[in-house]
Amino acid sequence: MAVLKIVKLGAPVLRQIAESVPPDTIGTRAFQQFLDDMLETMVAADGIGLAAPQVSHSEQVLVMECKGEEHGFPQTIMINPTIVGLSPVTAEGWEGCLSVDGLRGKVKRAVGVRVKFLDRDGKPVELDASGLYAICVQHEIDHLQGKLFLDRMTDLSTLTQIEEFDQYWRTDSVEVI
Ligand code: NI
Repeated sequence: MAVLKIVKLGAPVLRQIAESVPPDTIGTRAFQQFLDDMLETMVAADGIGLAAPQVSHSEQVLVMECKGEEHGFPQTIMINPTIVGLSPVTAEGWEGCLSVDGLRGKVKRAVGVRVKFLDRDGKPVELDASGLYAICVQHEIDHLQGKLFLDRMTDLSTLTQIEEFDQYWRTDSVEVI
């Protein structure tokens, strides 16, 4: 296993549309190793989600996991994910990103999402996610479309540096995905 380098805002790969993964490559040792490396990289960076473009692979691959009883969700690997449904109800919450150092901002997202993808065995899965899980799915799928949470902010007045976040907004929860 290996911790991969996370690229940051300004890296062109973060703005590209990621390529879909040919299903017959999912079972290869190299691809499975890549998935494990992504998981290790996410944990090492204290994130709850990571998309392959963030480690310079322009491929439709995401990993997610959030430990914790209340808002946690299980380890999830998505290959070639597609959002097939979004709840009409939205909510605004703070987000950060492992590729955007030092900034937090409020983003409005659907509170529920239905997504289709292949799992690490290449098996098709359809999943409903809500709450933090749904936010993470939308944030990560955005990465595969070359979008960052900054693009989703409709009001930049909440854009906040970390020290100021801790000073003024620390009672709010924030997720770094
Ligand atoms: Ni991110």
